[in-house]
Order: sequence, then C-alpha cells, then structure tokens
Amino acid sequence: MPHKFGRILYGGDYNPNQWPKEIWKEDMRIFKDARINSASINIFSWAKIQPSEEEYDFSQLDEIVEMLSAENYDIVMATSTAAMPAWMVKKYPEVARVDYQGRKHKFGQRHNACPNSTVFQKYASALVEQLAKRYADNKHVTCWHISNEYGGDCYCENCEKAFRVWLRNKYKSIETLNEAWNMEFWGHTVYEWDEIVLPNMLGDGMEDGINTAFAGLSIDYRRFNSDSMLNNYKMERDIVRRYNSDVVITTNLMGAYKNLDYFKWAKEMDIVSWDNYPSLDTPWSYVAMNHDLMRGLKSEPFMLMEQTPSQQNWQPYNSLKRPGQMRAQSYQTIAHGADTVQFFQLRRSVGGCEKFHGAVIAHVGTEDTRVFREVKQLGEELASLGTSTLGSVNETPVGMIFDWDNYWSFEYTSGPSVALEYVDQIHRYYKYFYDNNIGVSMIPWDGEFAKYKVIVAPVLYMVKKSMKEALEEYVKNGGILITTYMSGLVNESDNVYLGGYPGPLRNLTGVWVEEIDALLPQDQNEAIFADGYRSKCTIVCDLIHLEGADCMATYGRDFYAGMPAVTKNQYGAGCTYYIGSCMDQEGIAKVMEMAVSDGGVKPLVANATKLEITCRKAADWDFYFVMNFTDEVLEVPSEFVGNEDVLTGQPVQAGDVMKKYDVKIVKVKRQ
Ligand code: GLA
Ligand code: ZN
Repeated sequence: MPHKFGRILYGGDYNPNQWPKEIWKEDMRIFKDARINSASINIFSWAKIQPSEEEYDFSQLDEIVEMLSAENYDIVMATSTAAMPAWMVKKYPEVARVDYQGRKHKFGQRHNACPNSTVFQKYASALVEQLAKRYADNKHVTCWHISNEYGGDCYCENCEKAFRVWLRNKYKSIETLNEAWNMEFWGHTVYEWDEIVLPNMLGDGMEDGINTAFAGLSIDYRRFNSDSMLNNYKMERDIVRRYNSDVVITTNLMGAYKNLDYFKWAKEMDIVSWDNYPSLDTPWSYVAMNHDLMRGLKSEPFMLMEQTPSQQNWQPYNSLKRPGQMRAQSYQTIAHGADTVQFFQLRRSVGGCEKFHGAVIAHVGTEDTRVFREVKQLGEELASLGTSTLGSVNETPVGMIFDWDNYWSFEYTSGPSVALEYVDQIHRYYKYFYDNNIGVSMIPWDGEFAKYKVIVAPVLYMVKKSMKEALEEYVKNGGILITTYMSGLVNESDNVYLGGYPGPLRNLTGVWVEEIDALLPQDQNEAIFADGYRSKCTIVCDLIHLEGADCMATYGRDFYAGMPAVTKNQYGAGCTYYIGSCMDQEGIAKVMEMAVSDGGVKPLVANATKLEITCRKAADWDFYFVMNFTDEVLEVPSEFVGNEDVLTGQPVQAGDVMKKYDVKIVKVKRQ
C-alpha cells in the first residue's frame, strides 16, 4: 500500500541553532543510539536566516542540513514563517495582529502574523523561495513543514477589508447578506459593504469571546479566518512545489482545534500531520478520537509530528509521563493510523518558556536518563517493525460526522445551555465505540456515508444544503443513523428552519420536537427503557412527539414524564435513532447496542475487554494493536492465541496477561 516515507520517521523538532557546535556531534551520537532517523528543523529560525530585510544567511542551516544528510536523516524542513523577525515588525507594524479585544500587538510571541498582510506575505514568500531553491532538491529533505501550528485570528483593518471582499464574493449583494445574517434583528441592516465590522469585542462579539450577537456573521468570520490562513499555507506550499514536484508537504495540525476547518485544509496537504499533547488526566478515548479525526481528514495514514517524551510546560500541572506511558501512547498513535512518531523536542532548551518542556536529551546532557532509555527502546522496536505497518489502513464500520461549521455555530449559539460543548458532545458518543473496540472514522458532513454500516451524527445542529437528501438516501438504502438533541435546527447561516424541529431531519427521524428544556447542573431527568432500565438525563431534554417513530425510552420526571426521550424510525431499508437528552454512558450504550446490532456491526474481538484494540490492514496481514490503558491486569483475547506478537517475535499464549501500558501488535494472516 502506498506510503509517503520509506520508513517510520522517528525523531522530532531539533533546534541545534540554540546550541554550540560541540553539542551537535554529541547529539548525533546519542540520537543514533535511540535509532532516531528524522529531524524537523528550521521551525523558528527566520531571524537567523534573514537577519535584515536585505540579507539572508543560510550558513548555519547549511551546516545543519549537511550534518543530518551525512547521517542519512529524513529531514523535515520547516519554512520558519510561524514567528516573525523583530526587524519586520519594527519596520512594518501592520504585519502584527490585532486581537479580540482590539489591541494592536507589537513584536513578541509567535504565530503572530496577520494572515491578510501583504507585507507579511511578500517577505514569507521571498523567504520560502530562498529555502526551496536551496534545499528542495536535497534528497534527504523528504518532507516540508509549512509554518507551524497555524491558528488564532486577527481583527486588524487589513483583515476587515479582506473580510468585506470575501463576503462580497460569497453573497454578491448586500441584500443577500442582510438576509443571511437576519440583520433586521436589533436594527443591524447594512447598506454599504464598509459598514460591516469584524465580530470582536469592539463589534458584535461578546466579552467571553465565545458568544456573539450575530452567529451568522461570526461563523462567516471563522470561515474567512480559516481561509485566510489556508491561503498563506497554499502560498508557501506552491513555492516549494515549484522547486520539487513530488516532495511531501504538510503543516502540523492540532486535533480538534476549533479555529480552522481542517477538512478543508487537509485537501491542500499531501499528508496530515498533528501534535498530540494530552494531559495526564485526558481520557485515552479522547486521544483516540483525535487520532481518528486526524486520520479521517484525508482517510489516510497521518504523521505524529509532535508529542512530548515526558512532560509539557504549558499546562497548569505538567506531570511526567509514567514509565511505559510514552511508548504506549506512541503505539496508540500508530494503532489509529500514524506512520511516524516525532517528538517535541530532541534536546531540551536552556532558556525561554519551554526550558522545562520534555525532550529526548534532558538538561543533564547524557543518555543516562529514564526518558532516553524509553525513547531508545521504542526506537529499536520501531526499527524492527521496519516497513510492515507503513501505509496500512484502518477500515471502520462506523462513521461519525465532525464538522467545523457545526462546531462554530453550535458553540456560538446563545441557549439553551452553556453546558453544550461540541467536542465533549461528540466524545460522549465516540466513547461507546472506543469502549467496545468498534472502529470509528471521523467523517465530514459530505463524506461517503455508504462506506459505513452505522453513521453517528451527534448534535448535528447545522444541516447544510444537500445534507438532508444525503442522509435520507443513506438510511433508505439500509444505513443506520443515530442523531440527537440539538440537531436539524439551523441552516448554513444559522437561521432556524421553520415548521418544527428537527427541521430537515423531521421526516427521517419521524419525530417533532416541540420544545427544548435546559436542566440546571444539579438537576436531572431520566430516560426509562422498555426493560425498566433508567438512564440519567442532563443538560437538555427535547419534548418529543412521535410522527411515525417508535418510542424506545420515555422521560421519568417533570411535566413531560411519559413523553418519548429516545425514538427509532424505520425509513426505507434502514432506520434512524433520535436521542432526546444527554444520557449517561450506560444509556448511550443501550441505544448504540441496538443500532450496531441493526447494522450488523461486530467489535474486533468477541468478548468484552477493557483493552483497547484497533486493526490496521496491510497487503496480506492484519495488525491488531492491543493496548492496556487501565490499572488492571487484563487477559489477552483468545482470538489472538497462536499469532505472532511482532514486538516480541513470540506467539501469543493462552492466558497471557497485560499490565498497564503493555502493548502487543498481533499479526494475523488475512483469510
Ligand atoms: C507546539 C509547538 C511546538 C512547541 C510545543 C510544546 O506543539 O508546535 O513548537 O511549542 O507545542 O508543547
Ligand atoms: Zn489582520
């Protein structure tokens, strides 16, 4: 199967420019010991390689590239445009951003360029041109890493002007725009394009930065800001591409990061790469979900561009990774589709706010550390895996819709409850599949639904054009759809579908939601299932009338006791489940069990287990990744007995047990 690199890249961000040269040699020796074969360089070196407007100086970067090339590294070459040099901001203050509060920034920090500054674009392009000319034909530079972690937003005058142009292209006439944003509300009608202002705190944005007076406007701003940054990415990518027609080009994404529409971005990337920084208390199911999202962006294997070997510095409490945790976390990443394991960073900085961020080489400077030994063990194991898992695919029976327009609109909405957070909502439903070892792919709203036996569309708040038809078609042909409260409510512009909730999904779900109750944090209702099971309901409760659907559970309390809380509607050859309230995990599991049984979906192993298991399919083999993230000692499922664990080279034995953070990769010949 096609894969982008000839081996599992193992390495990470490397900043030798922060160190005297004697150290470089030592680095090479130590990295070799850990089987490190890749380094991401030049990530924040703009000030070094362009000391002034008139002059470039690549002498040090040349030396770094030569050194790594001599050691046969896969070099991941960044373009350095994620942090501007001081001279640029001094001379052209317009390159700096204006923030949500309306404050004009000075030189400082990083990820700080106004995405619509033509001055920034001019200097960034010129720099990338120089870099590409110089390094694009070096065969060791196997990947280009454009900028770094694009993100944030800008509310400067340049952006405001560019936004008006963007809107003009989209709406053509000011009347259409007024209608889309429902500007009759609060007398907001505009007559000229230059009356439109950016929705920060000085305009229609609200103090908390989360809410807005006009969601239609704010969602368009989000789309525009994502596009603006994407244009910068494309600008740099196209320059590199001109110098090398087939080198791999990417930029590092950040999982379920809110500000950028990553499905749109992924279309412009050769491979998705991302930075995985869970905290010590992040559920493993949440990490897994992020991986499935990153794989889902292109429906292809991805790169783990960054993770810390031990701890972070920017969380409130930066715990160490426990012995074995980094290794298990790395395998979880591969288990969900990664073909690389890269760290931030290879040597711990001496100063700056990241000096206490974990690294492969610690401040002590030797290989005699727990962290290094763990990095080395993993390096040796990955080297022995060779190319066997590269390019192998995660095929899943379940698709879950994740959509940035929904993310934005759902969270901009005032009411019914502040407890509704998009990613948290998605995770509640994802968790059932994670707990049961049923593979999930996160898919876009216009994905290939027919590939999946079950589609889950939690809080499908915004239903965009053609979506109603696509979902109806899917279910009519035998698909099983699960959707929930807060679905089918608004169109692309955040205007409510009139004629009863859930709007365009009313026919498909066979229900009419008359009202939506919001529960106080201390309150709850319950959903009572036919077998008497009572599930705790929180956050919101839909008051549902059946319009052809069957009632699967009813509310137990309050004035709507006895009304449906969960329904099922047969539609063509398939059916749609509608969940009317935020149930506890057991309640969710009850509905999901019905749905997976309707869809004929089976977990990867027959008996329930707390082990996490995924499957990657190579040409003739299936690789089952079996991982223990619990505190319990767990037995390996009997299906795997007799098959080789490629990490030990030994067959799995009946009764084999796994402790916390143990991993097996079981290789099974495909029938
Ligand atoms: C991000 C950045 C890196 C570094 C790490 C620290 O992922 O891309 O440059 O700051 O965070 O965790
Ligand atoms: Zn700007």
